[in-house]
Amino acid sequence: MLQEINPVITQNMDAWNEVAKRHFSINRDTVIGNLQTPGYFIDTVLKQELLRRPVGALTVGQFNCNNGRETISAHQLGFKNAVGFDFSKEFVEQGSHYAREVGVSTQFVETDIYKIGAEHANSVDHLFATAGALCWMPDLDTYFDIAFRTLSVGGCLTLWETHPCLEMFKPDRDRKRDGDERLEMHYSYFMDEPVDYQSGLDYYSNEIFGKKSVLWYHHKLSDIFTAILKAGFSIQRFNEYDVDNSIGYREVENFEIRPPMSFILTAVKQTS
Ligand SMILES: C[S@@+](CC[C@H](N)C(=O)[O-])C[C@H]1O[C@@H](n2cnc3c(N)ncnc32)[C@H](O)[C@@H]1O
Repeated sequence: MLQEINPVITQNMDAWNEVAKRHFSINRDTVIGNLQTPGYFIDTVLKQELLRRPVGALTVGQFNCNNGRETISAHQLGFKNAVGFDFSKEFVEQGSHYAREVGVSTQFVETDIYKIGAEHANSVDHLFATAGALCWMPDLDTYFDIAFRTLSVGGCLTLWETHPCLEMFKPDRDRKRDGDERLEMHYSYFMDEPVDYQSGLDYYSNEIFGKKSVLWYHHKLSDIFTAILKAGFSIQRFNEYDVDNSIGYREVENFEIRPPMSFILTAVKQTS
C-alpha cells in the first residue's frame, strides 16, 4: 500500500508547499497576535481532553500540524515539551518562526507521517490531530500504527476532526465557484475513491489557487474506529458536535436540522 500511495503523497506535498507562503502572508500577523494569548488555538472541546491529567511533565505532539499554531498553543497549556510533525517544509518553517516569535521551545519535524521512524518511538505522551488531517492520509491503518508507536505507554491519542458526514457536502467555496450551488449532499458517505480536488488549498482567501491538484480521501467513521482498534488502542471517549471545526463548511451550520459536523475521540495506548 505505501509504495502505491507514494506518488499521491508527493503530489499533495507539492500542493501544500505551493500554498504555504500564501497562507503565511494572509495569516502571519493575526497568528502572532493570537499566540500572545496562551492556548488561543486550542478550543474548549480539545482543551478538555488535553488537560484531563496533569501535563507539566508531559510531551504533547501533533500530526499534520500545518503552521504549528495549534502545536504551540497546546504547548502553552503547560506541557513540558511539544512537537509538531508535517511534511511541508514551508509550514514547518512557519511553525519554527512562530515559536521563535512567541518565545516557546516547540519543535517541528518535517516528515511524511508515514515515514516517522523508530527515533520518535515512545516520545509523545499526548498526540492529537485536528480538522483536515485524516483526509490526506490514504492508509489509515499505517497512520494509526505510527501514532501508536510514537506514543509512550499510557499515552493518549485525540482526534478533533471533521465528521465524515460533513464531507458529504461540497465545501462552501466549491459551491460558490460552481455558481452558488444549493447546499445539499454531493458525495456518497460510502465513496472509496479519492476526490481529485481542483480548487487548490487557499481556503483562507477562498480564491482558486495553485497549479497542483490534490487528492483527498473520505474515511467513514467505521474506517477510523477500525484502524484505531487494529493499531492496538483502547478507545476511551467519543463525542459528536453540530459545529464545523474546520472553516470549510460554515453554511451547514445554518441548517435548522443539522448533521454531525465534527467529532472528538480519545484512545489510549495501554501496552507497548
Ligand atoms: C488542513 S491542514 C491541518 C490544519 C490544522 N487542522 C490547522 O487548523 O492548523 C493538513 C496538513 O496535513 C499536512 N499533510 C498532509 N499529508 C501529510 C503527510 N502525508 N505527512 C505529513 N503531513 C501531511 C499538510 O501539509 C497540512 O499542513
